[in-house]
Amino acid sequence: MGLLTGKTALITGAARGIGKAIALKFAEEGANVAFTDLVIDENGKATEAEIAAKGVKAKGYASNAADFAQTEEVVKQVKEEFGSIDILVNNAGITKDGLMLRMTEAQWDAVIAVNLKSAFNFIHACVPVMMRQRGGSIINMASVVGVHGNAGQSNYAASKAGLIALAKSVAQEMGPKGIRANAIAPGFIDTAMTQALSDEIRKEWAAKIPLRRGGTVADIANCATFLASDMSSYVSGQVIQVDGGMNM
Ligand code: NAI
Repeated sequence: MGLLTGKTALITGAARGIGKAIALKFAEEGANVAFTDLVIDENGKATEAEIAAKGVKAKGYASNAADFAQTEEVVKQVKEEFGSIDILVNNAGITKDGLMLRMTEAQWDAVIAVNLKSAFNFIHACVPVMMRQRGGSIINMASVVGVHGNAGQSNYAASKAGLIALAKSVAQEMGPKGIRANAIAPGFIDTAMTQALSDEIRKEWAAKIPLRRGGTVADIANCATFLASDMSSYVSGQVIQVDGGMNM
């Protein structure tokens, strides 16, 4: 019996990266997994097959998380096809970095829409389902920069701070209905997003981390599993930094 046996998880932006690692870990713990991404191409289908190979029900849905109507539709489909939604992970995210003076309105709007509005869309659509079930766990994928800020990432940092405040607000509103909401703030995690950085920048980052390494997607998936499962049944409205001790 896994930590998540019998539960259904819905994870956004999970065709690759951190979202995919969470999907696989949840499946190992017995959860059925529905996930979204902008497109479900060969890569998305491969992710779906890898999850299903753990012996659970798995399906990828093509949907733009920033789109309110598409989100309502996808949540309706997941509810119909999986029967319940017990865990929601708002993971879809992008960066469009730039210093304030050079940041365009389009860069600002895109990052706020994909990172923050998407979470509102999914929480808004999933909460009625979770209320009828008398419980659920919502996890917003924030970032350490949402707590501490970061030069050159004002749009991204603001979106991640918003995800933290959103989780805390939902925790307060929905706690009486048995719904918990928390945020994970990863530090420097080895994914496509960070592999794009130069070796020099990556070394500089590692030197600032007490554990002297970047995080792995498994480090984040383990924390997500804790927050998704009944192991954290009395934890709500929290932000957990998973960053090797980089920010204390
Ligand atoms: P990634 O770029 O590898 O994966 C993100 C996924 O989201 C991709 O599959 C992408 O297609 C999907 N996506 C993008 N826009 C979407 C939309 N509008 N609708 C649906 N799906 C969409 O990124 P990674 O590194 O796996 O990041 C996952 C989350 O973790 C993001 O929210 C990111 O901000 C956050 N994070 C990552 C850190 C890192 O060091 N990699 C550090 C802190 C936070």
